[in-house]
Amino acid sequence: MSLAVPAALETEIDELISHYPDRRSASLMLLHALQDHFGWLPKEAVEWTAAKLGLQPINVHELVTFYPMFRHSPAGKLQFKVCRTLSCALGGGAGLHQHLCRKFGLDPHAHGVQTTPDGKFSVEFVECLAGCGTAPVMMVNDAFHEAVTPEKADTIISRCHP
Ligand code: FES
Repeated sequence: MSLAVPAALETEIDELISHYPDRRSASLMLLHALQDHFGWLPKEAVEWTAAKLGLQPINVHELVTFYPMFRHSPAGKLQFKVCRTLSCALGGGAGLHQHLCRKFGLDPHAHGVQTTPDGKFSVEFVECLAGCGTAPVMMVNDAFHEAVTPEKADTIISRCHP
């Protein structure tokens, strides 16, 4: 199955590639653009990217599996993004991540994106969300939450209806 990339997105991607003297240097930006559009990166996105940049699919696959921000499966309706950078790491980010994973039946020790089988929840680590003074910080979809204790996380979850 081929990837249905809308013409407008392909134009945007072509423009993006034009900023790089070496096409392969646009790989990460291109993958971000595809993930922003599709919500995740199916194998067809890897193949499409490789063809676009004149690379082998394995070169792109390595990037997608190396960087934890890339999704290998569709994201949940509610996406929990927990900061793991220094202030949040010191302020309890790892404990918050584990709490969310246990609550949703996911692996508390996995660092990549995980989604519950019913597609309702995704949990992942992300880098600094620019709220370092109020660690630990997380986002739920586009909503920003500061000083999130496990109890506060439970309250936030109880108010959400995926
Ligand atoms: S370190 Fe977590 S928001 Fe900056």
